Amino acid sequence: MKIRRERAEDRPEILALVEAAFPESGEAKLLRELFAAREYLPELSLVAEARGELLGHVITTRAWIGKSGSLGLGPIAVLPEHQNQGVGSALMRATIAAANTLGEPSIVLLGSTDYYPRFGFAPADSLGIISPDPSWGSHFMALALDSFVPGAHGHFAYSEPFTAHR
Ligand SMILES: CC(C)(COP(=O)(O)OP(=O)(O)OC[C@H]1O[C@@H](n2cnc3c(N)ncnc32)[C@H](O)[C@@H]1OP(=O)(O)O)[C@@H](O)C(=O)NCCC(=O)NCCS
Repeated sequence: MKIRRERAEDRPEILALVEAAFPESGEAKLLRELFAAREYLPELSLVAEARGELLGHVITTRAWIGKSGSLGLGPIAVLPEHQNQGVGSALMRATIAAANTLGEPSIVLLGSTDYYPRFGFAPADSLGIISPDPSWGSHFMALALDSFVPGAHGHFAYSEPFTAHR
């Protein structure tokens, strides 16, 4: 399996795998909007590929903490028949490495407290990042990257499509 940046011709297969991972939910619609948004970052839309098949995808888009740049991760999706085999973990680690290489200070996400802490994510408020929705509680998590400046805290804002979706 290799992790690589998405290519334009991958889009239909990516959207199909997101539909399969999130049946009857709005994640594929959200992803379509993120692909078209100004907050889209081509370096951070990654696929996991094996034998010519896409097994998973993750996208991370521009977000803000106050007036400073941050990143919002999601959706992440792995084909149901390939879940729990390390594909999601490989996509997460590749995203973190790429974001660090880009000099980004932080990644923020809304997700399971059983999954993301293994990659170093902690409740965002522990880094001084204020949630757009207090009801998200500890599911709103953040990872400080190498360029994170302690004290650079404030209100988190997702990209426009995310805000509309949530
Ligand atoms: C969540 C998801 C991206 C994880 O990718 P994956 O390749 O299946 O996961 P990995 O093989 O890297 O890791 C497996 C671990 O993740 C856990 N896990 C899998 N799906 C999970 C979920 N939805 N919530 C919490 N933990 C989950 C497994 O229990 C396993 O834990 P263990 O290592 O303690 O046994 C994938 O399962 C998926 O696409 N699920 C459906 C869509 C979804 O729910 N996405 C958002 C999750 S917040």
